[in-house]
Amino acid sequence: MNIQTQVQLKPFNTLSLDAVASHYVKIHNNDELLSAVDYAKQQNLNLLILSGGSNMLLPEQIHALVLHMDIQGIEILSEDESSTIIRVGAGQVWHDFVLWTTQHGMYGLQNLALIPGLVGASPVQNIGAYGVEAGEFIQTVQVYDRYAQVFSQIDAADCHFSYRHSIFKDDPNRYIITHVSFKLLKKADLKLNYGDLKAAVGDEQTAENLQNQVIQIRQSKLPDPKEFPNAGSFFKNPVISQSAYDQIAQKFPNLPHYPQPDHQVKIAAGWLIDQSGWKGKKLGMVGMFHKQALVLVNYDNAALHHVRAAYQAVQQDVFAKFNIALEPEPVQFDQEGMICSH
Ligand code: EPU
Repeated sequence: MNIQTQVQLKPFNTLSLDAVASHYVKIHNNDELLSAVDYAKQQNLNLLILSGGSNMLLPEQIHALVLHMDIQGIEILSEDESSTIIRVGAGQVWHDFVLWTTQHGMYGLQNLALIPGLVGASPVQNIGAYGVEAGEFIQTVQVYDRYAQVFSQIDAADCHFSYRHSIFKDDPNRYIITHVSFKLLKKADLKLNYGDLKAAVGDEQTAENLQNQVIQIRQSKLPDPKEFPNAGSFFKNPVISQSAYDQIAQKFPNLPHYPQPDHQVKIAAGWLIDQSGWKGKKLGMVGMFHKQALVLVNYDNAALHHVRAAYQAVQQDVFAKFNIALEPEPVQFDQEGMICSH
């Protein structure tokens, strides 16, 4: 175990925020994880779990032990005539893993191609895109339980997956995810209901083509963090009651909306931001992307307080126009490495 001190995390968070960690270690396996947890206990340091860094807001100084999860490996656990169960290390790059499943005739995750981040983070906020959520294909999540101080596994049903949510968000200090097991199909069951995906896929209804179309759609409107540092959708799509929606719809009949199974209505935050004049607009070095207003971009070395000033201005303008409070999607950390509210 190689614990380093005063490590710059700018290359490890996709918003490219300047953030120096007092202590940092890369974790390649469960033994190293245990040693790091022990070290933090001895030194009285909080743990900050760093995965792909694509959904986090970091302050400039962090006094904590950063565990940079780098557990690799894809292993087939079992298969029958219709499905394959595979166990994947938390440190595998999500998009590469999706491509690998498609190449190996394992289907389900194709709509989730090109989502940034690592496999270990996929259950945390139940990543989703184009009508599919990772939780639909997760079978178990293998964790280190910091409360019970044991390695264990949690069945998908007990993860309580919902829109951008799971038990891992309810109690972020309890579990460190080491591996995720997925149950994937041998025969593709293409999910083409989202937006214009069906038209994009056209007559060539194969998993490979679906995956390629998703990649193309994402590339056409979502900025590459290497060129425009960003954290994907910066706000969640608000989910409101049917009656609240009916009221807004009277004034704004074009508001894109998606009825939910629980009779609530999800509305498009990108549209609200766009209509509030923020598409392509900047406050200092931070702005909302010109092709997709839901994505906040760090255009020039912004620190967390610049990001906060910009997103709060967006929140205020959307609230003033629509009376809707937007909730940021990325997780914010304090200087002690603890998750804090926005
Ligand atoms: N819209 C605008 N202006 C904009 C952006 C969007 O009017 O600047 C409208 C679009 O025209 C569309 C609606 O808003 O009618 C929804 O837009 P889109 O289909 O692009 O999806 P989204 O709601 O903005 C969500 C996810 C994305 C995911 C896409 C596709 C959230 C917070 N975001 O975005 O996830 O890729 O759907 O499924 O749920 C992410 O979480 O980081 C992410 C990129």
